[in-house]
Amino acid sequence: MQLSLLNISIPEGAAKSRADELRRTLEYHNRLYYVLDAPELSDAGYDELFRELQSLENSYPQLISPDSPTQRVGGIALDKFAAVQHRLPMLSLENASNEDEIRDFDQRVKKFLGLTTDHRISYVCEPKMDGLAVELVYVKGVLTVASTRGDGVTGEDVTENIRTIRMIPLRLSGQHIPDLLEVRGEVYLSLQAFQILNSAKEENGEAPFANPRNAAAGSLRQLDPRITAQRPLSFYCYAPGTLQGTACDSQQEFFAALSGWGLPVNSLISAVEGVEAAVGFYREMLSRREALPYEIDGTVIKVDSFPLQRELGEKSRSPRWAVACKFPPRQATTVLEGVLPSVGRTGVITPVALLRPVDISGVTVSRATLHNWEEVAAKDIRIGDTVVVERAGDVIPAVVRVLAERRSGAELPLVAPDTCPQCGSAVVHIADEVAVRCMGLACPPQIRESITHFASRNAMDIEGMGGKNVEQLITLGLVRSISDLYRLTKDDFMRFERMGDKLAGKLLSAIENSKRRDLGRFIFALGIRHVGERTAKALAQSFGSLENLIHATSEELLTIRDIGATVAQSIRTFFDNPDNLAVLRSLQESGVAPTAEAKQVGGRFSGKTFVFTGALSRFTRDEAQRLAEAEGGSVVGSVSKKTNYVVSGEDAGSKLAKARNLGVTVLTEEEFIKLLAV
Ligand code: IVH
Repeated sequence: MQLSLLNISIPEGAAKSRADELRRTLEYHNRLYYVLDAPELSDAGYDELFRELQSLENSYPQLISPDSPTQRVGGIALDKFAAVQHRLPMLSLENASNEDEIRDFDQRVKKFLGLTTDHRISYVCEPKMDGLAVELVYVKGVLTVASTRGDGVTGEDVTENIRTIRMIPLRLSGQHIPDLLEVRGEVYLSLQAFQILNSAKEENGEAPFANPRNAAAGSLRQLDPRITAQRPLSFYCYAPGTLQGTACDSQQEFFAALSGWGLPVNSLISAVEGVEAAVGFYREMLSRREALPYEIDGTVIKVDSFPLQRELGEKSRSPRWAVACKFPPRQATTVLEGVLPSVGRTGVITPVALLRPVDISGVTVSRATLHNWEEVAAKDIRIGDTVVVERAGDVIPAVVRVLAERRSGAELPLVAPDTCPQCGSAVVHIADEVAVRCMGLACPPQIRESITHFASRNAMDIEGMGGKNVEQLITLGLVRSISDLYRLTKDDFMRFERMGDKLAGKLLSAIENSKRRDLGRFIFALGIRHVGERTAKALAQSFGSLENLIHATSEELLTIRDIGATVAQSIRTFFDNPDNLAVLRSLQESGVAPTAEAKQVGGRFSGKTFVFTGALSRFTRDEAQRLAEAEGGSVVGSVSKKTNYVVSGEDAGSKLAKARNLGVTVLTEEEFIKLLAV
């Protein structure tokens, strides 16, 4: 064990009280910075305290607690999320889509409560955050479980990912900490974080997220918490679940208590008397919507009093005491001036609308998606038409409908192209799908997209091989398929605009390093239609080698969970194509040798789940993981009641503590080795 020189002289008792103090101080400054947006300490000052705590914890690992700020980004990736039952179902909300429907809601409430129609109910009005619902569970003030809404009854355990969100305290502060606090709220991504994330994705040649909500959901549902930690997610609380050891009589009191405990509450929330004031809040939010740093899609109005909420109760899916007041869609009308057929990775040609530029709530829109040619025909969209365009918080606006009454008669009907606009090859209309597809093998945009996909982070992870560099390789005639990547030389890269010796060397070694990626990534990287990351991993585990997969029959493919007739057919079509086989052979000749990860079915550890934590001395984590998997075990990243074994090495942290709390069997490295040897 490494002891820091700085702390070695501190006795354990003193170290413990200093560590406790540092944790409280760090959590306090965290809250000032992330929740209240009013930092008192410089970043350097914060880092200094953080490093002091880290150093104390290095010297005395027994002092590490799961709620330590040093434990926000934990362990290894999961292979799936565990299920979590919500103690109380997570309900949805009834919608009101205009001001009169808000007034109708108010009348329903009063009728149910037997109040006169002119009675003024006390309401709490809140922005409706456009993200995803999550429940946090604090036991005696410590964050223990966080789960998604799921179907409302059962959600997914996303604790490790939620712990990376700095706005969420790992331990509550302040007075009267409840024995049990379940609090629901919305995880969201700010518009700024969304834009940064999407620019990075585009630079890497990956498809951008359609809107901040999808980006937040995609970021929270990462199996590897280290990826979530890189996405600056935010959170606002909005409703209680079960509360024990504390009493609140109203939504206002509840929010005040939450703030007191250090939980984030949106400062725009406002308590009002009577429905007209609630309508006023809705109007105000509608007018401020574009200026907010995050997406809201409406407001939520709630009866403030908890006794009244209880009296009103709930219907099957939504409470009678709240309503979501949705904003109208952001729409504008403009003229469709042309259509650009655009070719994607798989050769699908989609129609993109070229519009007379129009302002839709502060954003100039000049392009929109028309989705596919069938939809163009169904909506009878013609060039020259006046069309309604909608921005639904999405990156790409959509053409919603045509104002046929505005036609002059000079409009031109739209037809799908017979030849590819990029390479001139014939296109085919595939019978059982709406797509029109270019079949040209040398179609430049298809090549570009398939190579960027191959090199992308979740596939072969070739750093630096994003859209722009791939584009240059194609323009210079240096690559025509993925296998050409492995024949590139430094001189080839030196032909790029603005390329230095060092960068060229980096690109080459990134390509070289990708040769031994695991088989699952490699299969995903091939871009076989309908084969996403999960299916690719399942194929790798079942077949163990590329050779086996190439020769797999449809019947064999169909035995794999999640693979149906369409996917099996698509896999066979891919490997039956001699051009694809030639590319695979050429990859092999260049030394691309994806490593197998066959899962032993029916091994000694079959059905058992393992979590590894801390440093092992006899093998690396990856090796230990492979040993467990080779015997049919599965290795997951976070500890739950369902975990069978936690293998604990040196400096084990929060996972060990959690395992002990849950009564999960903890093995030392030696015991794990014995178990393997039995
Ligand atoms: S209250 C029973 N308050 O909207 C009460 N929900 O359409 C449950 N949402 O699933 C929800 N902001 O994900 C509530 N201030 C807010 C909200 C909010 C966003 C989401 C939430 C919910 C969905 C219902």
